[in-house]
Amino acid sequence: MSLVTTKGMFKRAYDGHYSIGAFNVDTLDTFKAVCEAAKEENSPVIIQITENVVKYFGPDYLMAIARTAAETGIEMALHLDHGRSVEACKACVDLGFTSVMIDASAYDFETNIKMTKEVVEYAHAHGVVVESELGSITGIEDDSTVEDKYGHFTHPDQVVEFVNRTGIDSLAVAIGTAHGAFKYKLDENPALRFDILEEIERKLPGFPLVLHGSSSVPKERLALVNQYGGKLQEAKGIPEDMLREASRRAVCKINVGTDLRVCWTGEVRKFFATFPEEFEIRKYTTPARNAVKDMVKDKMKNVFMSSGKAVVE
Ligand code: 13P
Repeated sequence: MSLVTTKGMFKRAYDGHYSIGAFNVDTLDTFKAVCEAAKEENSPVIIQITENVVKYFGPDYLMAIARTAAETGIEMALHLDHGRSVEACKACVDLGFTSVMIDASAYDFETNIKMTKEVVEYAHAHGVVVESELGSITGIEDDSTVEDKYGHFTHPDQVVEFVNRTGIDSLAVAIGTAHGAFKYKLDENPALRFDILEEIERKLPGFPLVLHGSSSVPKERLALVNQYGGKLQEAKGIPEDMLREASRRAVCKINVGTDLRVCWTGEVRKFFATFPEEFEIRKYTTPARNAVKDMVKDKMKNVFMSSGKAVVE
């Protein structure tokens, strides 16, 4: 099967009250781990790639790998994560990505609309779907200082105008998630603003929403890194039960990158600490790849509830 857009998978996820995992991959090994997980779980999957990762792979290698992966019989979209410019998004459309995100959320509302619209016009003309972001996903610590009830979260009063004027296919919302491994301190209680999510859902019935910054940062995975010489700060991620709740609602795409990196790093550190005399590359990439695959399978099955939902033609 060739690479697909997210249109069909989002429609089924919305109606079926589950979500699709969008996994950031950095190397061929994590790419393959995610694809094998999707195949074994029979789950739709979104492979997401940043501009730097496109450069790291090299565009030709990346596209060949993505097309080959899709042909193994998985329902897979190839997505540009956080495209920072209109040009970057257009370049990925030209390469053969089936979905792009333009992240102009740091700009004012009108500039965000203008940049997003330009990407939508180009992408749609090439059969590619577009995600854009409203609100600010990082900086959760600042909430208490903001007067407005919505602070830097996505303001429900803006979403209808934003979607209508841009023509986007999905909207990334800021409701309390954050990128990276240090989302919440150990003594903090992670809280997603389901009240804001509900308001947004009511205003955009049937429209797919996206959650960024949704790694759960499992305690035992952080501990493994630190047990074998790492120095990662203790922190909490987004609890799985909250991600399950979001999946049952209008959230159709959930982004995860940090968890895969922490998982991989812990396994490799453990291997080197246990077998310091080893230098055979596949000996330490194999357990790391298997651990990432198992983690992704678990998320598909138990958190996003997307196992068994792939439609492969
Ligand atoms: P995490 O850093 O929580 O894994 O989020 C990844 C992400 O949202 C990429 O856009």
